[in-house]
Amino acid sequence: MIAGLSQPQKTLSPKYFYDAQGSRLFEAICRLREYYPTRCELALTRRHLGDIARFAGRRIELIEYGSGAGVKSRLLLGALRPAAYVPVDISEAALQGAARRLAREFPGLEIHGVVGDFMQPLTLPVYRARSARRRVVYFPGSTIGNLTPVEAHAFLRMTRGQVGARGAMLVGVDLKKDANVLHAAYNDAKGVTAAFNLNLLARINRELGGDFDLRRFSHYAFYNAAQGRIEMHLVSLARQTVAIGPHRFGFDTGESIHTENSCKYSAEEFRALALAAGFRAERVWQDGRKYFALFGLVAG
Ligand code: AVJ
Repeated sequence: MIAGLSQPQKTLSPKYFYDAQGSRLFEAICRLREYYPTRCELALTRRHLGDIARFAGRRIELIEYGSGAGVKSRLLLGALRPAAYVPVDISEAALQGAARRLAREFPGLEIHGVVGDFMQPLTLPVYRARSARRRVVYFPGSTIGNLTPVEAHAFLRMTRGQVGARGAMLVGVDLKKDANVLHAAYNDAKGVTAAFNLNLLARINRELGGDFDLRRFSHYAFYNAAQGRIEMHLVSLARQTVAIGPHRFGFDTGESIHTENSCKYSAEEFRALALAAGFRAERVWQDGRKYFALFGLVAG
């Protein structure tokens, strides 16, 4: 965080959003009328569940990146009946809650929760379920949108290495659409997204001894059409200096901290990105409005 705030364009990684409070706020975002991705993905997953299960195969080892509250996980586990389930999440609170619920619901399922950052090369302390035939990484929610295309390419390559030559990946991707729809999803009327963004500063105050005055920063989200992404920023409303422990950061009025990219793709763009990283898009499932896509990728 100190390194990111020391750059000319101050930057904080979106992974820091998800402390217990941030995870709760994200759950609230997912219930917002304006925030379509969660509902779209859930609907298309329900609708094509049988097909998705056939794509994944039987007795697989299912690794889920950013499992969060585990709503979609429950659906998938019920249909796929994997030999082992490995949820990976940076929020220990979210992971523990979800793992406990899923363990109750699927007695007999081997669950190995991993608290960690799946964007880093992660050695899964996984014992490979002896009977598992294939590794499948499930990466829903368009979390991949947090990466720029260049970063996503590297991430897909790394995942390709993790699942091996017979492996597969199910990845949820938010699609390009009317900029007004995108704008509303990140500027909700209730201000939940603003609270989610500002919680990052509250978290720095709580955990790192920062003295951010939250009233002197405001949420700013816009669609950067040239880059094909929503950008979220926290804009300083005054010329001010903020301390985090022994570190001092100066802000001009209007200067921002870039807190998130949420990249949007056309189905074709994502197919090409995956291919360049060693994955062939065997299946693409979409909702009726083509707001969201779930890709079934296989090595090759
Ligand atoms: C969890 C990264 C998919 O980019 O839409 C929601 C996070 N940020 N509202 C997204 C988020 C603001 C979300 N992802």
